[in-house]
Order: sequence, then C-alpha cells, then structure tokens
Amino acid sequence: MGDDLPFRQLLDVGRVLVSDLDVRAILDRVLNAAREITGAKYAALGVLDETRTELAEFLTVGIGPATRRAIGDTPRGRGVLGVLISDPRPLRLADVSTHPRSYGFPDGHPVVKSFLGVPVMIRGEAWGNLYLGDKQRAREFSDADEAAVVILAEWAGIAIENARLYERSEERRQQLERAVQGLEATRDVAVAIGGATGTERVLELIAKRGRALIDARAVLIMLRQGSDLVVVASAGYATDVSGHRLPLAESTSGQVLSRGRPERIAHVGARLRIAPAELGVPDADTALLVPMLHRGTGLGVLAAFDRGEDGGVFTDADEQLMLTFAASAANAVAMARSVEADRLRSSLAAADAERRRWARELHDDTLQVLGGLRVLLSGALRRNDPTRFEAVMREAVTTIEQGISGLRTIIADLRPAALDELGLQPAIEALLDRRRDADLTITAHLELPEPPSGPPLHAELETTIYRLVQESLTNIAKHAEARTADVSVVASDQRVTVDIRDDGKGFDTGAATEGFGLAGMHERVYLAGGALEIESGPNGTHLRAVLPAGYRSGTARDETRGLV
Ligand SMILES: Nc1ncnc2c1ncn2[C@@H]1O[C@H](COP(=O)(O)OP(=O)(O)OP(=O)(O)O)[C@@H](O)[C@H]1O
Ligand SMILES: [Mg+2]
Repeated sequence: MGDDLPFRQLLDVGRVLVSDLDVRAILDRVLNAAREITGAKYAALGVLDETRTELAEFLTVGIGPATRRAIGDTPRGRGVLGVLISDPRPLRLADVSTHPRSYGFPDGHPVVKSFLGVPVMIRGEAWGNLYLGDKQRAREFSDADEAAVVILAEWAGIAIENARLYERSEERRQQLERAVQGLEATRDVAVAIGGATGTERVLELIAKRGRALIDARAVLIMLRQGSDLVVVASAGYATDVSGHRLPLAESTSGQVLSRGRPERIAHVGARLRIAPAELGVPDADTALLVPMLHRGTGLGVLAAFDRGEDGGVFTDADEQLMLTFAASAANAVAMARSVEADRLRSSLAAADAERRRWARELHDDTLQVLGGLRVLLSGALRRNDPTRFEAVMREAVTTIEQGISGLRTIIADLRPAALDELGLQPAIEALLDRRRDADLTITAHLELPEPPSGPPLHAELETTIYRLVQESLTNIAKHAEARTADVSVVASDQRVTVDIRDDGKGFDTGAATEGFGLAGMHERVYLAGGALEIESGPNGTHLRAVLPAGYRSGTARDETRGLV
C-alpha cells in the first residue's frame, strides 16, 4: 500500500520544520503537508488562548477567501472542535454531524463529512489542534492518516518550541550586545578620566559616545548650576549653544532632573517646553531625556534628539542603554570635577610653598644683608668718627651689592629673564654654557619650536622645562659627582619630552628628602598635566618628564569655575 509515500513526505516536512524559525511559516507548512498526505479537502489549525478553553486563532488551508468571508467569525472551539480542547486526544469521525456535540455548520460553511482532529502539544501541554476535513476519494480518514498527522502534530510542537527558544535567545543575544555596547562606551569615558583629562574633554567624549550608542542625530549634555541647567557639550548636528541656560523649573529637562526619571518625547515642537532652536536643534522631532544621577544627586541631563538610521521614536532599549550610560557619565563628571578640584588645591598648595620659599630666601638673604647694613651704619653714627666714615661707606656699598644680587636671584626665580629675552632654546643653551666646567662635560640635544618655524610653547610650559633643566643641573653639580651630563628636550605637536642623564653616583629615589628641588619638579610637572620619572643607580641618574604640549596655564581653574 501507499504508506511508504507519506512517510517520505513526512520526513521531508520534518527536515524543513526543524530549520524554520518563523512560527507562521511552520504552521503553514504543517497544514499543507497534513492536507497533502491525508488527501483532505480542508485543513485547519486552531491555537488555544491562555486559558486553554477557547481558540484564539484559526488558520485554514483549502477554504477560499470568498468562503471565509461568507462564514464570518472564525470558530472559537465549540461543538466537535471543542471536544479536542477538553480531551486532547486524536478524534476520527466518518460523519461529523452524527457526533453528540455537533450542532451543524454555520451559514456559508462548506459541509464537512469525514473528520480527523489531532492535538498539538508543546512540552506536554495542549497548545492547539490540527483539524482535517472531507477526505477525498475515501469515506473516512484511515489509521495511516491518523498516524501521519499525529507525527506532524508532534513535529509542529517541537518546531514551534524551537522557534520560540530561538526568538528568546535572539532577544537575549541582542540584550547582551546592547549591554556590551554600553560597557564599551562607558569604558572609553573611564579611560579618559583615568588619564585625568579635563572635564571639558570628558564631556565632549560623553556626548559623542552617547550619540553613537543609540544612533541619535544629536546629543546635548546639560549640567546643573544653581537653579539652571547649562548646555556644556554637544555632538551631532546640534549647533553649538554651549553656555545657554534653561531654568530648571520651567523646562522639561529640569523636570526630568528633579524627578530622576527619563522621558521620551514624540513631537519635540509640541511637547518640549523650551523651543528646540534654543538648544541648537531647531529641526528636532523626537527626543529622549535622561537624568545623570550620581549617588542619588542629579548632576544634569543627557538629551538625545532624533534616531539616526532607523528613524522613528526612541525605543525602550534606547532608554535602557542611555540610562546606564548616563549613570556612568554622571560618575565621570563627578570624577573629573574632583580631579580638577584636587589639581586646583595642589596648585594653590604649590603657590603657597613657592611663597614660603621666597619668604625664607628673603629672610636668609636680603633681610640679613639689610640687618648687617643697619648695624654697620648705626655703629658708625654712634661713634661719630669721620675718619672711619669712608671705610664704613665702602663696606655698606659691598653689602648693598650683595643684597641686590640676592634679590635678582629671587626675582629671576619667578620667571627666568632669559626666557623672555632669548626664547626657550637659547635660554637653555646659555644655562648649559654657564654650568659647563672642567669637571663636568655637558652634551645637549634640543628640538624646540622657535617662531617662525613652529608655534611657540605656552609661557608656563617654557618655565617648567627651563626649571627642570636648571634644577637637574644644580643637583648634578651639587650631589652627583658626575663627569658627564646629557640634556635632551624634544617637542612634538602633542608633547615635550625632557631627558636628563648623568653618570654620577646616583641616589635612593625612594628615600625621603629634605630638599625642595625634587618636590618642586614633581609639582611643576603635575601641574602641567605631565608625568615625571626618575631612575637612579650606581651608574648615574636619569630623569624623564613628559609634558602635554597643549597645556595652558589656568585651564584647570577656568573649567572648575565654569562647572561647579
Ligand atoms: N643627580 C643626582 N645625583 C645624585 N643625587 C641626587 C641627584 N639629584 C638629587 N639627588 C639627591 O636627592 C636629594 C634631594 O634633591 P633635591 O633637589 O630635592 O634637594 P636638594 O638639592 O638637597 O636641596 P634644594 O634643591 O632644595 O636646594 C639630594 O639631596 C641628593 O641627595
Ligand atoms: Mg636640589
């Protein structure tokens, strides 16, 4: 008999089913296969609702659109169809109308005589039923038909479960991917802070990364200042409106900040309480406003405008991503601020230490000289001996000269006059010339931008470089007992690298020192945003300072004032 044929057909269907991941396509395939294999005129699939007492969906094959329209409502699962719902087992009837639960067919419904119904189970629970009606060229459905449809129904259950699992794992994969994206974006921000970058740069980075994260066309960062929100950075098509202030009380962003909850806006023009043009995004249509919370305090608001590629309104996923990102951003801002506050504090401390040093030198030097002078002159006056006046005068002039030269040294300390008179490179060369003597050979390699060949370095940076060379050479002369020293200063667009080596006896860099020189060098380099390393051993000492070339004096202070 032809039982062989349905079996092969079944296998073909099975193979396709397990690879299909779209539930609708699976159901269509199952219906068509069931109809073909059994030779039924009609095939239908009813999907149960959550209560498993009614059919929520009813798919058919073999019934044309005109007939379906004529039938009207799809069956809910009463009558014979309901038998399979309350008792999910195969049901085979030669004539449906003879079943006690049958109440006939609705108007327009084709009259169905033979019937085969099989439940579709998923993980042992009834999910729906497969119905076949009116076997062609036979009075009723056979045992083989029933067996084939039972197998099909089983496979359908597996295929549907498979597709659902895939959907779920796909969703999870996408969730993971978004989480990873979010992490990457915040990692960049964290790296920037690790490098103790200024707040301005951190904010710029946050705006850029935030925009890329959810593919917005523009992102603005507004930070709280008193009772206002101030625009501090933007990325994307927004025109720069940095410094623009929005009153907290009268802006949607202000609400977002005070409530600590994000808000999605479909029509910016109608909903945003501040005109989008004021924010530099006059054409904005949709927006996503997210609070930047740090330890429960709202620091500001991240505002994203218009989804880029896909268009449309911002999604739940966008909101989730931005919320996480905004929290890291808030953390970043708080960190950058405290780094800057620290820098400001230490620059004040450095200035204070410098003042104490001048006071000490004025005391030790100039004040001693003046004191000596007073003793000398008042002694001469008391004795009132004109013959000694000339000698006293001569001594006084010498003392005054000493005082003047002492004061000169202190003044020169503030800013080496040579820097202004000569420029950095000649000033260093002159310094090296003064330090060379019979006992110390100094070699040098200087690559410094001198106008007009390149932009000059900032005055503060020049002083720092000059002082590093000066103090190092002083230390070499004072402590190293070296025969040679080598000084290298090389400037590129990004940084200036200062290397000073000697072949002296070295010292223990870890030991506490009484002197001011090394501490002063560390402070200067730190304030310049650079790094100082000293390696020392029995073969000599190597000092290396790397300083960012873009350093401007007062940067830290200006930024802090603007943001706190
Ligand atoms: N190139 C060097 N070779 C050997 N020892 C050094 C060298 N540079 C510094 N030192 C050691 O490190 C100590 C600290 O140096 P630092 O410049 O801080 O203080 P100082 O030179 O003793 O005093 P100040 O610089 O305040 O006049 C020195 O006393 C010296 O022992
Ligand atoms: Mg010293």
